[in-house]
Amino acid sequence: MFHPKGPSFRELAVQALSSTQRGYDLLAEKFDFTPFRTPQPLLDAVGQHLDALGPFDTAIDLCCGTGAGIAMLRPRCRRLVVGIDFSQGMLEIARRILVETSHKAKIELVRGDVLSLPFDAAFDLAVSFGAFGHILPKDEPRFVSEIARVLRPGGRFVFITTFLPPMLSPQYLFSRLFNAAMHARNFLLRPPFIMYYLTFLLPDVARLLNRHGFAVEVRDMGFKGMWSAARLVIATKHSPIERQ
Ligand SMILES: C[S@@+](CC[C@H](N)C(=O)[O-])C[C@H]1O[C@@H](n2cnc3c(N)ncnc32)[C@H](O)[C@@H]1O
Repeated sequence: MFHPKGPSFRELAVQALSSTQRGYDLLAEKFDFTPFRTPQPLLDAVGQHLDALGPFDTAIDLCCGTGAGIAMLRPRCRRLVVGIDFSQGMLEIARRILVETSHKAKIELVRGDVLSLPFDAAFDLAVSFGAFGHILPKDEPRFVSEIARVLRPGGRFVFITTFLPPMLSPQYLFSRLFNAAMHARNFLLRPPFIMYYLTFLLPDVARLLNRHGFAVEVRDMGFKGMWSAARLVIATKHSPIERQ
């Protein structure tokens, strides 16, 4: 459908009829040949911004999938890059892809839910790409508080999002239509497949981050054309003294 090595329409439909986790297990082998993998130019652009913020000892990629973000983080970290995802299938592909060992940083792939991170405060940096649609709006405060909990004071949460597209724009209308179809699917079928567009958007996400003790900087990523709306959010966790 997207690429000769990518999934067929039928395979995508079967995926969408499964749970989110099982759906990604089924898609894993072909995931890198879909547009759902975060495109490399976006990751490279994030990497350039990180170069000016680093160096980092430890980083975590939330909802790491097949490891696109981990590969970008690895040369920028001195000690450890952790990837966490709840799909075993996606983690297995990541493990296969990330065998290259010329970098200093160790890689750990952990199966788990990003709403309940199995770590204590330690990380210098957290990133997440292409996954906010899988976090229900009601779970966003928990997601952000988990990230705040596992970052050290001064640690950063860096991600890409956008503002709400103009109403009646093709992107807005497509997203609303897609969301309506997913609401209908999830009303009728169990287990749900959680995937909604237009979530974790600016400016609301900046307010959410502020409430969880982050200072927020928003940067235009400078893309033209289809990614021109992309904004890089750099959220820095306050130290306890700053918060008083
Ligand atoms: C569209 S993929 C993005 C993968 C990768 N970050 C990328 O940019 O290519 C979304 C990933 O989020 C994972 N995911 C969704 N909800 C999750 C959750 N609550 N906890 C852990 N992983 C989750 C899925 O298993 C899937 O691998």
